[in-house]
Amino acid sequence: MVKRMVAISFVASFLFISLFLLLDRYALAQADPQQECLSCHKDQVGVMQTKHGVKDNPRSPAGRGQPCSACHGINPNHAKDPKKNPHPVRFKKGAVPAKEQTQACMSCHAGNRHLAFWETGRHGRNDVRCNDCHAVHTPPPRGATLAITRKDPTAKPSVSTDRQLEYETCIGCHKQTRVQINKPSHHPIIEGKVTCSSCHNPHGSMGQGMIKQETVNVQCWSCHAEKRGPFLFQHPAVEENCLSCHAPHGSSHDKLLNEKVPNLCQECHDWSRHPGSAYSRDQGFVRIPGSSVTAPNTRFVARACLNCHNAIHGSNASATRGKFLTR
Ligand code: HEC
Ligand code: HEC
Ligand code: HEC
Ligand code: HEC
Ligand code: HEC
Ligand code: HEC
Ligand code: HEC
Ligand code: HEC
Ligand code: HEC
Ligand code: HEC
Repeated sequence: MVKRMVAISFVASFLFISLFLLLDRYALAQADPQQECLSCHKDQVGVMQTKHGVKDNPRSPAGRGQPCSACHGINPNHAKDPKKNPHPVRFKKGAVPAKEQTQACMSCHAGNRHLAFWETGRHGRNDVRCNDCHAVHTPPPRGATLAITRKDPTAKPSVSTDRQLEYETCIGCHKQTRVQINKPSHHPIIEGKVTCSSCHNPHGSMGQGMIKQETVNVQCWSCHAEKRGPFLFQHPAVEENCLSCHAPHGSSHDKLLNEKVPNLCQECHDWSRHPGSAYSRDQGFVRIPGSSVTAPNTRFVARACLNCHNAIHGSNASATRGKFLTR
């Protein structure tokens, strides 16, 4: 009899404990009642189709059992009166301070090496938020690794993809850059061959101007390796900084030049002997009306400097040919 009672109580307590455990697990699953949230917020279901909604990834919000609260935090009374009981983290501009919005993301992403310089980067310091560039609730288009999507797919019917190109996101704020990349000579950014993030780390970097490499030249060499040399005869200006002569985004002058040749050269080379200045009587571009000189100086027509000094980035030719960067 006693044996039986012990057995029964044993089984009963086992059942009780397992029921308790089951309930507890149920409660855990309920900790973030995504279905309940989505019953009112149907429009936000897209987030479940992004990497943040992947349940198999234990590091993702969904995988952690916090499909919504990982970013928005918790307010247990929200459903009762949403207006009076907002969630602690909301991402509308100004709803809560930018730093708090960013912190919600950084709680998981701070370890990403791409984000190592967020705090010191110009964006981080100027209250640009993660979701100014990343559309978290919109599923990224197939094959894209980035959740940047066109907010209004109908805005540009001529574009066959509904994916907002990266540069479009950037020039929404950077109007000056927008002007530059539309100039006649430009890096093929609009053409899709180069992206803003080919040169910049939008999350911040050690380099000046948030460029990815430590110096501008190293950045340029990463694609234009042939300009690196080493050359027997260097042009010190090139060694120093490509931007002495080139505009990185675009220019009205050929080959992304800051100015037309020869003006470009004459910013540094002020030669009274050779090649002369643009306005001297016998050495100008064109014949000066009324002047006795009949032909413009041969060394000084439009691209003249380059006609002779064509190894402008450096030369391996021997002797004076190399020294003077001529052909
Ligand atoms: C009963 C319907 C209902 C439920 C359930 C509900 N919400 Fe809401 N939620 C609302 C309403 C209505 C608003 C708008 C309140 C306002 O206008 O201030 C809102 C606002 C929000 C906002 C702020 C949006 C903004 O302005 O940035 C967030 C975030 C949010 N809800 C998340 C959640 C989450 C997460 C859950 C589940 C835990 C949830 N909601 C459950 C009705 C609901
Ligand atoms: C990875 C972080 C993250 C997760 C997870 C997340 N949200 Fe959001 N939520 C955001 C951000 C960021 C915004 C701002 C809009 C945007 O960038 O798409 C936002 C906006 C919202 C809004 C306001 C939308 C508007 O336009 O007014 C609601 C409501 C909302 N989320 C509810 C939810 C619910 C419900 C869930 C869970 C199913 C959820 N969120 C999961 C980050 C998140
Ligand atoms: C609970 C942790 C967590 C939070 C909070 C979180 N993320 Fe993520 N995020 C992840 C995981 C996990 C991935 C998948 C990639 C990986 O495994 O590293 C990811 C991926 C991403 C990606 C890459 C998407 C892709 O398609 O490759 C972006 C962009 C991103 N998150 C932005 C954000 C932003 C913006 C916020 C804040 C609004 C945020 N995340 C909040 C965990 C999180
Ligand atoms: C100024 C726009 C911008 C802002 C602000 C921004 N991102 Fe990004 N993010 C990008 C771009 C562009 C890429 C793609 C970069 C690439 O392809 O190399 C990216 C990529 C990512 C990735 C994927 C990186 C990987 O490992 O491949 C994650 C994660 C991410 N961002 C998270 C964040 C978080 C978190 C924040 C806020 C702290 C943030 N981003 C703010 C533009 C931005
Ligand atoms: C929401 C607006 C916004 C978006 C979107 C944005 N930026 Fe910015 N960006 C800023 C602000 C604000 C600053 C800091 C003020 C300034 O220098 O003009 C800044 C500064 C910069 C700088 C200058 C750094 C320096 O040291 O001078 C670079 C480079 C830059 N952003 C690149 C990008 C790229 C690349 C993207 C797209 C991936 C982008 N930005 C998207 C607002 C934005
Ligand atoms: C070929 C490389 C390259 C590409 C592509 C590129 N940039 Fe830059 N960007 C630079 C360099 C180099 C600087 C100057 C850095 C310095 O100040 O030393 C710069 C500077 C900037 C600045 C600081 C203000 C200025 O004009 O000096 C902003 C803002 C900026 N870039 C935004 C963008 C945006 C937005 C895109 C995409 C539309 C983009 N960049 C594409 C190389 C590039
Ligand atoms: C991500 C790769 C990449 C980086 C980094 C890069 N470029 Fe380019 N550059 C290109 C491509 C692609 C073209 C177009 C080549 C073509 O159309 O044949 C180009 C073209 C040019 C041209 C010729 C333009 C013309 O009209 O023919 C110049 C000058 C130039 N780049 C200078 C620079 C300078 C200066 C830097 C550093 C600030 C730089 N590039 C960084 C990829 C890059
Ligand atoms: C002293 C001025 C000057 C400096 C500094 C300079 N360039 Fe140039 N670059 C020119 C001129 C002038 C042209 C046009 C040559 C022509 O039209 O034949 C040019 C053309 C180019 C071109 C396109 C034509 C070609 O030769 O491939 C590229 C790419 C280029 N430069 C890259 C660079 C890079 C990278 C740097 C820095 C390492 C740099 N330039 C520094 C003056 C300069
Ligand atoms: C940012 C300033 C700068 C610009 C712009 C510049 N140069 Fe130079 N250049 C120099 C410097 C500095 C030297 C080295 C002078 C020296 O060694 O006496 C040099 C050397 C030269 C030399 C070799 C002279 C010698 O005595 O070794 C030639 C040729 C030359 N430059 C031509 C040009 C041409 C052509 C242009 C225009 C496409 C140009 N430079 C633009 C700064 C510049
Ligand atoms: C017809 C060919 C030719 C043209 C055009 C030309 N140069 Fe020269 N340049 C030379 C030769 C050859 C030398 C070698 C020394 C000499 O003969 O004066 C030289 C030397 C130089 C030097 C070295 C310093 C010196 O005077 O000894 C510089 C700097 C220079 N040129 C810059 C320029 C600039 C800038 C332009 C355009 C405004 C230009 N050159 C146009 C052929 C030319």
